[in-house]
Amino acid sequence: DAAKAWSGRFTEPVSELVKRYTASVLFDQRMAAQDIRGSLAHAKMLARQGIIAASDLADIERGMAQIQGEIERGEFAWSLDDEDVHLNIEKRLTALVGDAGKRLHTGRSRNDQVATDIRLWLRDAIDQILALVVDFQKNLLDVAEANADTPMPGFTHLQVAQPVTFGHHLMAYYEMSRRDAERFKDCRKRTNRLPLGSAALAGTSFPIDREFVAAELGFDEVCANSLDAVSDRDFAIEFCAAAALLMTHLSRLSEELVLWMSPRVGFIDLADRFCTGSSIMPQKKNPDVPELVRGKTGRVNGSLIALLTLMKGQPLAYNKDNQEDKEPLFDTADTVIDTLRIYADMITGIKVKADAMRDALSQGYATATDLADYLVKKGLPFRDAHEAVALAVRAAEVKGCDLPQFSLDELRVAMAPVAGAAQRLDDEVFAVLTVEGSLASRKHIGGTAPVQVRAAIARARAQLG
Ligand code: ARG
Repeated sequence: DAAKAWSGRFTEPVSELVKRYTASVLFDQRMAAQDIRGSLAHAKMLARQGIIAASDLADIERGMAQIQGEIERGEFAWSLDDEDVHLNIEKRLTALVGDAGKRLHTGRSRNDQVATDIRLWLRDAIDQILALVVDFQKNLLDVAEANADTPMPGFTHLQVAQPVTFGHHLMAYYEMSRRDAERFKDCRKRTNRLPLGSAALAGTSFPIDREFVAAELGFDEVCANSLDAVSDRDFAIEFCAAAALLMTHLSRLSEELVLWMSPRVGFIDLADRFCTGSSIMPQKKNPDVPELVRGKTGRVNGSLIALLTLMKGQPLAYNKDNQEDKEPLFDTADTVIDTLRIYADMITGIKVKADAMRDALSQGYATATDLADYLVKKGLPFRDAHEAVALAVRAAEVKGCDLPQFSLDELRVAMAPVAGAAQRLDDEVFAVLTVEGSLASRKHIGGTAPVQVRAAIARARAQLG
């Protein structure tokens, strides 16, 4: 029959539009497996506590096994009339096993039921994301290791700044992803608490055992306040915040891939399978995948704001507003999971064009700071050294050459206006001006020297186990 689980107190049915407007089954059926797991744990507890009979539990378990199979085979008849995943499954259970199905909801409300389902679902999603972050990281480390000695210009303001290695540059993204993983792990702790037992908002008069249900479902502890447990979705907001940061990091990397792949820069090439052509311009190879990662970061940021906005005006305890938490949450998890999958593969397909990177280094006076440091080590105060090198760069621009192409005399002439600079220069200065010399000298922890890049990669591998 079409009667709703709660229709007893109503004198007229809802309109078709209201039915469609209030139903969530089209999207919350994704939590069916979690809903069944939660119900089975609840029923087991009810039977242990003598609240339902052992035969009821057996009926419920039999019915749920059948329902699970129907859902997996795509045979389950989801119905808008039954509003959401919870009522659809409960109704089918009752059709299959009769009174035992009607007893399942004893001491429970959809409010603590849905809060439990979301937490179970999100916990699985977080575990999947954490595993995918590791896949991405391992592949990133391989590319970084292969390029621990590959010089490229480091940029500030997108102007050539100082030489770094491509490996060092990639390891910056490793560090970001490590913090991302930490955030997801931390969020998992607060997600992994059991709302069930809070019932609608105040708890239940039945002698329930929440600790047992928590252990059955792998929760670390029970939510300590029934009103809080059924109403807050802060764990989902935290998840979206962690996701927004992860996507922001990958969006920055994507922007760099796009830039590096531009023929005007030409530092890398991406494997064809991550690019598409143009329907009009035959020569084009466009970096669509990184562009889409950059674009999809927008929708994840949007979901975070959606959930924050959803919560901010809600009085305690449960309000139907919370039904709107699912689509942004699911979409965020889907987006992060697909993005990580694609990135893990894309990163290994990067073809590094080391010659172009080195060419770019010879065009921006990348070792000017090394020259200033050299003068400082010879006793010149840093501000004077900075000024002397600035004069040398200006002279180089006039001559149209790079600093290493000056003779010792030319360098001395250029620096002459700064007292004490010229006489501190000798032939050793040319070793300092080389890219390799510049890289090797930054050999403290966190520096770009190839030896430190390798050490950072070794530490990372040890962290990943
Ligand atoms: N479909 C609802 C949701 O997603 C389940 C909880 C409904 N509870 C209620 N009292 N209407 O939040």
